[in-house]
Amino acid sequence: MSKKLVIANWKMNPTTLKETNSLISGFLKYKFKKSNLIICPPFVFIPHIKNKISKSKKIFLGAQDAFYENKGSSTGEISPKMLVDLKVEYVILGHSERRALGESNELINKKLLLALKNKLNPILCVGENKRDTDGFYLSYVKKQLHKCLKGVSKSKMKNVIIAYEPVWAVGSDNEATSAEFTEMNIFIKKIISDIYDPKTAYSIKIIYGGSVHPKNVKSFEDADGFLVGRDSLNVDKFEKILLNIDEIN
Ligand code: PGA
Repeated sequence: MSKKLVIANWKMNPTTLKETNSLISGFLKYKFKKSNLIICPPFVFIPHIKNKISKSKKIFLGAQDAFYENKGSSTGEISPKMLVDLKVEYVILGHSERRALGESNELINKKLLLALKNKLNPILCVGENKRDTDGFYLSYVKKQLHKCLKGVSKSKMKNVIIAYEPVWAVGSDNEATSAEFTEMNIFIKKIISDIYDPKTAYSIKIIYGGSVHPKNVKSFEDADGFLVGRDSLNVDKFEKILLNIDEIN
């Protein structure tokens, strides 16, 4: 069985290097076995964390975003090339909190293409704002996938991880049910299969995010991993999540 991917999305936390250090020293003591843990801290902490985790074989670094150009006159942006230079291997793209700030599928697509060109592994977030009884949420996610993956070749697709994150479940204590995730997991595979082929659809990782806690993580048996926000900022809760994942068969 391949390892689950567990993404710690710290968002705009913590606010000091001291707190960052205490989170990392907590993480380094973890004894989980069946996951690869990817920490996505604020950009400013990346070099520091890289040094701290350099000996770990199961903790990796990711970023929370990356721009669609590698260098130039773009004040405030961070490029994929800069991240790769710091040995960052993953990047979250299209998180709902960035979409809420105005990121479109077209912009996310540009970011995704450049991330792949730089050999980063993008974690592409998709998910509907709300569920309706007529199934419009399915066409919403389908559109996000088609637009965000435009121009991505079959060979590059194997580096893309898809995070299904229903917006109503992020930061809300309203996680999806396992049946809701399973339905979406199959639906996303079908879309990938239609764009590429069934083999590609079955080889990519589809993970779940949105109010993942120690108590509910085991219910998402068919997820290839998890994107965890709040509970990844709590050393004890996050350890419980990872140990509970070890118990999933
Ligand atoms: P949450 O955040 O775990 O706090 O709901 C999830 C996310 O950022 O995607």
